[in-house]
Amino acid sequence: MASTQAHYALITGASRGIGAAFAKRLASEHQPLILVARDRESLETLKDELSRHYGIPVHVLVADLTQAGAAREIHAACKSHGWPVALLVNNAGMGRFGDLLGHPLEDYRGMISLNVQAPVELTHLFLADMRDAGQGEIINVVSMAAFQPTPYLAVYGASKAFLLSFSEAVAAECFGTPIRILALCPGATRTHFFQAAGLSNAAILETSTMQTAEAVVDAALCALRSGKIRCVPGRLNRLMAVMGRLGGGRLKLWLTARAIKRSFGLGER
Ligand SMILES: NC(=O)c1ccc[n+]([C@@H]2O[C@H](COP(=O)([O-])OP(=O)(O)OC[C@H]3O[C@@H](n4cnc5c(N)ncnc54)[C@H](OP(=O)(O)O)[C@@H]3O)[C@@H](O)[C@H]2O)c1
Repeated sequence: MASTQAHYALITGASRGIGAAFAKRLASEHQPLILVARDRESLETLKDELSRHYGIPVHVLVADLTQAGAAREIHAACKSHGWPVALLVNNAGMGRFGDLLGHPLEDYRGMISLNVQAPVELTHLFLADMRDAGQGEIINVVSMAAFQPTPYLAVYGASKAFLLSFSEAVAAECFGTPIRILALCPGATRTHFFQAAGLSNAAILETSTMQTAEAVVDAALCALRSGKIRCVPGRLNRLMAVMGRLGGGRLKLWLTARAIKRSFGLGER
């Protein structure tokens, strides 16, 4: 980079899981970091570990991204502290397993705010700075759930379908500029996601073929750096993504519903 000022990677949902894996991997490349989530203690612990080990600037911003105005506050804090963001990782997200009426409407409002509204707002705010700076990268953490309707994860799947469409549309608007945008679409990944989504049947989760957060991050950074706009980590996941796009109608939906129910032990609850 031309200037000597530190340029930061800002990662939402950095307190654990895929977000923390992004932070560790980028820190190992001596990338200054801004870590965002609600759990201050986890963020401070990670900050101490990474800044001590790699000698890089690491800052913590505690924010609940379901709250109106949170994205603007994060952007304003970066501006006022003089932390230019060269890489934005919109990673924070949540799901809820079960049929639609199994959870209160308020849960879905929060999910839509976190999975849809926050990445749109953060992209809008930081993309404007990146355009002015003539450089920048954004990774939106989507999901394979974006590729087809997902019964028993209906709002989650729809939120990720929105995010995939949004990411790729804005990526196209940036073609021919130095700004790169990647939609990262992981399959099942071993993190706290499933427990947070209300799935406590750990036995089923242990036997499934999940990727590690580190493998997902490696694939994402490799794809971003080779100019791709979409990354589905893992060969089997890529095959399933293609199959998810095929056909439609009641039979496919019935089969999908059955597969999701069985995979996550929903019928047994
Ligand atoms: N794990 C999978 O199988 C999988 C598959 C496909 C896509 N994904 C996507 O990957 C992303 C990361 O998930 P993960 O698997 O790493 O799950 P995770 O372990 O549950 O981590 C979620 C992160 O989001 C943060 N977060 C949750 N609610 C938040 C809020 N209201 N405001 C700010 N931050 C919040 C959490 O931190 P705090 O609790 O400290 O706020 C945590 O750091 C999500 O977008 C998810 O949809 C996951």
